[in-house]
Amino acid sequence: MRQIIDVAVKTKKAEFARCKTNMLVVGQFSDATEPDEIIRKLDERLGGAIERLKQLGDFTGKAKTHALLYGNGKIAAERLLLVGLGERSKATLDTLRKAAATAANRAVELKVKHISLALHRPFAGSLDMAAMGKAMAEGVYYGSYRYDEYVSESKNGRLGSLDAQIVEPTPAPLKSLHQGMTAGVIVGRMQSYARTLANRPANVIDPPALAKAARDLTRGLTTLRCTIYDERQLEAQKMGGILAVGSGSRSKPRLIILRYTPAKKPARRLPTVALVGKAVTFDSGGISIKPAQDMDQMKLDKSGGIAVLAAMKAAAELELPLNLWGLVPAAENLPSGSSYRPGDIVTTYSGKTVEILNTDAEGRMILSDALAFAARQKCDIVIDIATLTGACMVALGQFKAGVMSNDDELLRDLQKAADDSGESIWPLPSGEEYAEEMKSKIADLKNTGSRWGGACTAAAFLRQFVGEMKWAHLDIAGMDVIASPVVYASAGSTGFGVRLLIAYLMNLIEKK
Ligand code: BES
Ligand code: MN
Ligand code: ZN
Repeated sequence: MRQIIDVAVKTKKAEFARCKTNMLVVGQFSDATEPDEIIRKLDERLGGAIERLKQLGDFTGKAKTHALLYGNGKIAAERLLLVGLGERSKATLDTLRKAAATAANRAVELKVKHISLALHRPFAGSLDMAAMGKAMAEGVYYGSYRYDEYVSESKNGRLGSLDAQIVEPTPAPLKSLHQGMTAGVIVGRMQSYARTLANRPANVIDPPALAKAARDLTRGLTTLRCTIYDERQLEAQKMGGILAVGSGSRSKPRLIILRYTPAKKPARRLPTVALVGKAVTFDSGGISIKPAQDMDQMKLDKSGGIAVLAAMKAAAELELPLNLWGLVPAAENLPSGSSYRPGDIVTTYSGKTVEILNTDAEGRMILSDALAFAARQKCDIVIDIATLTGACMVALGQFKAGVMSNDDELLRDLQKAADDSGESIWPLPSGEEYAEEMKSKIADLKNTGSRWGGACTAAAFLRQFVGEMKWAHLDIAGMDVIASPVVYASAGSTGFGVRLLIAYLMNLIEKK
């Protein structure tokens, strides 16, 4: 898929004042007593223009702010963008990522073609250079992203491409920055891919179309294989959960199975990890239909599945030395004469039976088959990601995804990956009490619990299908979308999970 804006990120050895570019980007903490060395040098050339800006109070370095100046031939850059980094003690890798995203977003608005980032400088000594290179590259993709493929006029005046380079005059840091940047470009590009696929509406992306996108993604890569179960194979495999949810739509359900095997045999045995993602291409609620308000947003109910597809491709491009499964059950949840109904009893792939009380609790039904499939493949670790419950949004707002797990070490590893990737998560329970609520009198399970703790009971339901595997569930409802634009991103799909999952896998490889 062609990106809406072609982005290229490179590194370049250059003195900051001599850096020829349309826009040089530097960062400033709000509580820095002395201006950063590079700002001071640039300001000398600019005759104190930066200092003046500060005196006037037009730029203080506060987070989420920025200010634009012009080089006027005094420095090689045409423009100088100052980006606020907030308080030094609160700064993290994600502060840098968001600063790079802010710069890229501004560049797209201004139709600036070439930007040069020196944002890592104020963090030197406190953050790892390679990690910073990766974060800046990810940020450039994130901030420059636009979704406008169906806007007829968008071609006129569209930026078309953005060239970004990370500039650094000294060789050793430059080398590490470059190394990290290479990984960041892969992750950033796949996150943009995920956002485009998720933003596409349900009349364009139905389950067969998603399966085709998955197949296209694996083309030409010998390490990444794609198998698609269509409705006949789903029948033959007795995947009753996926079939039930997909039964109301003319577009038939699919199970997308990706398998990644590294080209070289890994030096040591690492766990086989399965990534499972919910892909409901449209969730109307089915017979238990949703209210009309905001129902259009339910085209994004495929976001978890798409994050898995994108992460699998990124893992293959990064040539990660471990075995992976990517499992994406895809279905459209619509009401019709052939839909599944409240009261139905569905036999899932695991053999467990489920009494349907609400057809809008469909995500857990399709995930249960995919989780049981991962268990049957004897995966060691399984992580599922899904826009699963409104209750999770009620609990955590749109700042953190919920995480439920049966393994403390996995939970800690995911927490670390969340910190590294800037895709934030928060633990919620899913144990015995919650599982108790999901028991049915006339089947093994029912698909909804009581009014309370809906995110936890949903997770407790999923937990019944993971067997011996170490399992974590990411409820990303609310994290899949930004309602209105922010300084570092445009509105629409966020591609949440791509960075998190890759950070988890990369850390797993490094782990002793
Ligand atoms: N896809 C929705 C959850 C959702 C809601 C995601 C809002 C993003 C924004 C899910 O399939 C759903 O409908 N869940 C129900 C479960 C209930 C019927 C037990 C919900 O949360 O209301
Ligand atoms: Mn639903
Ligand atoms: Zn749903």
